[in-house]
Amino acid sequence: MRAPVRVGLLGCGNVGSALARLVDEHADLITARAGVGIEITRVAVRDLSKARDVKVPSDRFTDDAASLVRDPDIDVVVETMGGVDPARALITDALRAGKPVITANKELIARHGPELFTTAAEAGVDLLFEASVAGGIPLMRPLRESLAGDRIHRVMGIVNGTTNFILTRMSEDRMSFVDALAEAQRLGYAEPDPTADVEGADAASKAAIIATIAFGARVAVDGVYREGIAGITEDDIDSAASLGYAVKLLAVAEELDGGISVRVHPAMIPVHHPLASVRDAFNAVFIEGEAVGELMLYGRGAGGGPTATALSGDLIDAVKNLVSGAKGATIGELVDRPMLEIAETESQFYLLMEVADQPGVLAAIASEFGEHGVSIKSMEQRGMPQSSDPEGGVRVSRSASERAKGSDDDARLVFVTHRARESALSATLDSLRSVDSVHRVGSVLRVLGDED
Ligand SMILES: NC(=O)c1ccc[n+]([C@@H]2O[C@H](COP(=O)([O-])OP(=O)(O)OC[C@H]3O[C@@H](n4cnc5c(N)ncnc54)[C@H](OP(=O)(O)O)[C@@H]3O)[C@@H](O)[C@H]2O)c1
Repeated sequence: MRAPVRVGLLGCGNVGSALARLVDEHADLITARAGVGIEITRVAVRDLSKARDVKVPSDRFTDDAASLVRDPDIDVVVETMGGVDPARALITDALRAGKPVITANKELIARHGPELFTTAAEAGVDLLFEASVAGGIPLMRPLRESLAGDRIHRVMGIVNGTTNFILTRMSEDRMSFVDALAEAQRLGYAEPDPTADVEGADAASKAAIIATIAFGARVAVDGVYREGIAGITEDDIDSAASLGYAVKLLAVAEELDGGISVRVHPAMIPVHHPLASVRDAFNAVFIEGEAVGELMLYGRGAGGGPTATALSGDLIDAVKNLVSGAKGATIGELVDRPMLEIAETESQFYLLMEVADQPGVLAAIASEFGEHGVSIKSMEQRGMPQSSDPEGGVRVSRSASERAKGSDDDARLVFVTHRARESALSATLDSLRSVDSVHRVGSVLRVLGDED
């Protein structure tokens, strides 16, 4: 029987400790599937004095991560430290030393994936990162292997559990964004500083990785357009529901004429779409391929256990290659594809406006839409909500300047457009804001509709 493969674990926090426990608790099945035992031989952390809920003996811990990577007694490196530095240098050193690397680090792969893939390919060892996108949901391997023979047109994902939890509470419990965020923090779904989640940066890193793998293209995370959910109001959620939509934060990677579009933004999704039923902190990724058609992967996108499962699957693969002497799997040649600006993409749109309730207003508004080639699919008028609203209409709070322009006799109009170019919609909005009878253009949301 071959001696166990020796793993150096960088980081033993939420994810790293869950992996150490999984390797211990599932030792028999992991050995059977890998064909050899796997041992956590060394662990690098920042603070050696912290108590850790793992069965790894304390003398295997070090606060010198670089020495762990260089240690000739380490065969494979698993990185769960997070952040770009020093993870980038440590992973590079490990790969150059011929050691396979498994990582959960979305930020690093989104920023420096192509450079690290090249280093891994040159060294002929695995660099696997299933855990970096959507935690426990198998996604990288299906895209890289199961769907490798198909042309992927679009991948749309709910890839941030925190924001999906917040939007679910807003929709099901009629909470405000602020209250739903506080609830997410209380339950440990949101960090004390929730910026990366609510502003879409976390989802943008994942979108960049998804696009890289789905399209075999070099996708810079800085080129990913992003809008978060902090501006979503109870009005939008109510409007969406009454129109038959749910509001979700989507990461979209799409192949279009002229290039690829990679973006993160809230969108209204028809309630019958599979992504609309993804509730709470769950994640799901909806893939559209030329031959395979539509498919969806659903599960827990974060948390120690789910993320450790993804790491352990990668670890077993890497160990099998190491033991058999096979070269690591490569990502293949990444090509440079034009990244489309958001202005060049198309969508249907939802707009909420407060306008003077007087004759001729609709004609003035319709003319601005028409002027810019944006065609209106539907329009509904709703009463203003200051007093009780028999139609259960949405509430709109207005700033002092908006109140100065508007009046209590305003009407609220909800528009859904046909598919239009973003640039045309922006130009329409600019024009509408200068129409006297338009007192406020409230929310504007993209609509995923039957015209996609
Ligand atoms: N949490 C999730 O649900 C989840 C899901 C998917 C992917 N990920 C990714 O997994 C990674 C880890 O996340 P996490 O939630 O486990 O983070 P975490 O709980 O903060 O753990 C980070 C670990 O890395 C150690 N560490 C940090 N900097 C170090 C350094 N310079 N040298 C040595 N050790 C260092 C920390 O040591 P101390 O313990 O001593 O501070 C800690 O053990 C991140 O890349 C994250 O994006 C997380």
